[in-house]
Amino acid sequence: MKIVMLGAPGAGKGTQADRIAEKYAIPHISTGDIFRANLKQGTELGKKAKTYMDAGQLVPDELTCDLVVDRIAQDDCSRGYILDGFPRTIPQAEFFTAALAERGEKIDCAIDVEVPDENIVNRMSGRRACPDCGATYHIVYIPPKKEGICDHCGAALIRRADDEPETVLNRLKVYHDQTQPLIDYYKKEGVLRPVDGTKDMDDVFTDIVKILED
Ligand code: AP5
Ligand code: MG
Repeated sequence: MKIVMLGAPGAGKGTQADRIAEKYAIPHISTGDIFRANLKQGTELGKKAKTYMDAGQLVPDELTCDLVVDRIAQDDCSRGYILDGFPRTIPQAEFFTAALAERGEKIDCAIDVEVPDENIVNRMSGRRACPDCGATYHIVYIPPKKEGICDHCGAALIRRADDEPETVLNRLKVYHDQTQPLIDYYKKEGVLRPVDGTKDMDDVFTDIVKILED
């Protein structure tokens, strides 16, 4: 099961990918999470990525593509994986399709989580994230059991640096310019499956599971 999650920033890719990964026992690979982990560890990659992420721009393809191909070559990906936030440009998608073809593989399903721009800024301003385990919450829609504390690991929740409204608007623009064309790309590949991401989190998950079980 090789799945790609598409959708605007804040559409709920990470929230749903976590649950799919748990249900099907496959790794959830988020390039955004990988960059943030590198930033936290102070690696060169993390430092380079930070300047782009803070501005709401994409990290260059040359820092991103090989990283994903190396990651899916690891043992835990042998039964499949769910990619969240990659590919994000047509060149990334073409590179990835070619890299998979070399292994005699292809993507089974590209799930597009559809949420209109109007809902996005509101979702982002209420998002809280765990800096340790990566769990995601929303102060109104998906609150943690104890305010400000991660349900899973007990760490203090933070607001992501790129969730300031101005940066969110920039990320949305970048999404429409560079990532939205992937919807047509995967439609042509015959694997695109849209879901209504404005529904309640559990209903979105039910819709995705139906698609995957088909
Ligand atoms: P990344 O971390 O991938 O961010 P993104 O794509 O902008 O998406 P988000 O993580 O912000 O949103 P999400 O869709 O995961 O939503 P979430 O589930 O959190 O990338 C960050 C940066 O890294 C990029 O800007 C770029 O610089 C760089 N980068 C990453 N990958 C790259 C690549 N391939 N190439 C180049 N650069 C790359 O949900 C959002 C909020 O809504 C949460 O609060 C959540 O609790 C809530 N929520 C979720 N579902 C629902 C629901 N159904 N109803 C109500 N609330 C909900
Ligand atoms: Mg995410």
